[in-house]
Amino acid sequence: METVQTQATIAALLQETRRFPPPPEFTARANVQDPGVYEEAERDFEGFWARHAESELEWFRKWDRVLEWDVPWAKWFVGGQTNVCYNCVDRHVKGRRRTKAALVWEGEPGDSRVLTYLDLHREVQRFANALKQLGVQKGDRVTIYMGMVPELPIAMLACARIGAPHSVVFGGFSADALAGRIQDAQAKVLVTQDGAWRRGQVVPLKHFADQALESCPSVEKVVVLRRAGNEVAMKPGRDEWWHELEAGAPATCPAEPLDSEHPLYILYTSGTTGKPKGVLHTTAGYLLGVHMTTKWVFDLKDEDVYWCTADIGWVTGHSYIVYGPLSNGATSVMYEGAPDWPDKDRYWRIVEKYRVNVLYTSPTFIRTAMKWGPEYPRRCDLSSLRLLGTVGEPINPEAWMWYHENIGGGRCPIVDTWWQTETGMILITPLPGITTTKPGSATLPFPGIAADIVDEQGNSLPPNTGGYLVLTRPWPAMLRTFWGDPERYVQVYWSRFPGKYFTGDGARRDEDGYFWIQGRVDDVVNVAGHRLSNIEIESTLVAHPAVAEAATIGRSHPEKGQAVSAFVVLRAGYAPSEQLKHELREWVAQKISPIARPDDVFFCADLPKTRSAKIMRRLLRDIAEGRALGDTTTLTDPAVVEQIKQRYVEEGKEEA
Ligand code: WT7
Repeated sequence: METVQTQATIAALLQETRRFPPPPEFTARANVQDPGVYEEAERDFEGFWARHAESELEWFRKWDRVLEWDVPWAKWFVGGQTNVCYNCVDRHVKGRRRTKAALVWEGEPGDSRVLTYLDLHREVQRFANALKQLGVQKGDRVTIYMGMVPELPIAMLACARIGAPHSVVFGGFSADALAGRIQDAQAKVLVTQDGAWRRGQVVPLKHFADQALESCPSVEKVVVLRRAGNEVAMKPGRDEWWHELEAGAPATCPAEPLDSEHPLYILYTSGTTGKPKGVLHTTAGYLLGVHMTTKWVFDLKDEDVYWCTADIGWVTGHSYIVYGPLSNGATSVMYEGAPDWPDKDRYWRIVEKYRVNVLYTSPTFIRTAMKWGPEYPRRCDLSSLRLLGTVGEPINPEAWMWYHENIGGGRCPIVDTWWQTETGMILITPLPGITTTKPGSATLPFPGIAADIVDEQGNSLPPNTGGYLVLTRPWPAMLRTFWGDPERYVQVYWSRFPGKYFTGDGARRDEDGYFWIQGRVDDVVNVAGHRLSNIEIESTLVAHPAVAEAATIGRSHPEKGQAVSAFVVLRAGYAPSEQLKHELREWVAQKISPIARPDDVFFCADLPKTRSAKIMRRLLRDIAEGRALGDTTTLTDPAVVEQIKQRYVEEGKEEA
């Protein structure tokens, strides 16, 4: 758990006065137009969820009780039976959506595939039968280690169909990371592919899987999809080709009726600290949560083309590429490769090619696109876009404005969605037809969700006072436990504030009740007794025209306790200089306060990020303190931090 800070509050420094009410023509067509939904859900939150569970999902057996809440153990729709795959596929095949595109897939080399709901139904049934033939039974775990290919959601849905919990491991993880996750889940089958395309190169997934499997005796069978065509070793008796298995599998496989609380999947969080934890999500509540949020937050219409740019290896992809969109019968775009391959306009080319209407991406990507410059989106026709979303980190107000203007053409509402792997579904978010947005705020809890900001003792704090973000009532898609480690579940989320779920995030609420997320509570600097939020200092730096990205940290300081150090990536067209350093320091002093003025500004080409695109401030802290670097295994590119370290040391010598 994070180190406990002694002061209860985090100073709130950013003042944002821009307001964006929903455009009237958007509201007129929006799925939710009546602000009364909040009050209605508040009056009886169980009734609210139950009504939608009844009208939006299909059940094999109706539930007896909506919620059993024995803090911190939740059971939703107790006694009910349903099947997530049935709701995502079969029900659409019964009606007019059967020939509608379910998945529109773009391969990195430029190939593409469209799978209708009927195609998906056929593929999923065959693969479910293939898994059964390999001995997979209800309750057995299946680890999936693949790139972004259509067979990844097919494998997930096949698992859901037969009640075998899946554990998807991001294709960018190493053999060691994969092995640890397989061992923890005690998976019986591994599904992988020969290789995955990334920036024109083949990442040899099967080769990594072979290394991992040396220490994974639980795995009896391995299914290998041929994608990149690279040479692989097939171990007789253990390894099977996907296409051969499918050819021999029967065509029909009915969806298994499963209890509401049957495990759907395990997903390991790759937090910035500590060993990964297997977050467990179950069937009915999870499905309802992602279904409703997809429908209301992304405002999906039957004719929409929707694209979430995340990797399915993360929860964002699970909930908002696969389960939420498919449950709604939507058309969901999937892209296999890198955003700058073959050029930095690839995402915009995809938007143009498929006429994407709703785009959901990350602040990190938006800042990267800012750094590359607006000429890339300008090359493409983005006029199909009508709604934009972000997730993963607080979005700096200037990045929000850039997204709004350069991608949304000034006409698209932006939904800044706060949630976590653990929450399963979006929890704090605008509803685009009714919420007036403020750049940098995730705005309000979704109807039926109760959030609060509390101090160290768990007391609710007044407006504009920073504190800890907690959730004060259960929600349908919440994690149920850590796989195999219930004590740790209790300790991490439920022990700090009894009866309240501790998110690990710092936040404040403004006078309108809007939430402003300040980042993880361990991401704060303490300057002369003032707890400053790194994200707010970073946002101020990013608001300077020369800056694309910034990371700040607290470095020990003899007088102040900590001093702010800033690591800054410049936008295209700006060069590092002593003058610019000075200007940035004064900029922060002026915009926030002299207390927040960075003692030093260091220019770098890139920032160290985890594979889920979070800045690893811990490593920058190690560099600034002259310590050996801590664990770097979760980094996207460990070379980035080595480069920074080397140049940091050299610059220090020059200055001395
Ligand atoms: C943490 C969860 C949820 C899917 C992707 C990340 C941060 C997420 C926002 C947002 C500010 C955000 C929080 C949260 N976060 N969305 N809109 N505004 N912060 O999932 O890896 O489980 O990370 O991401 O710090 O706790 P995750």
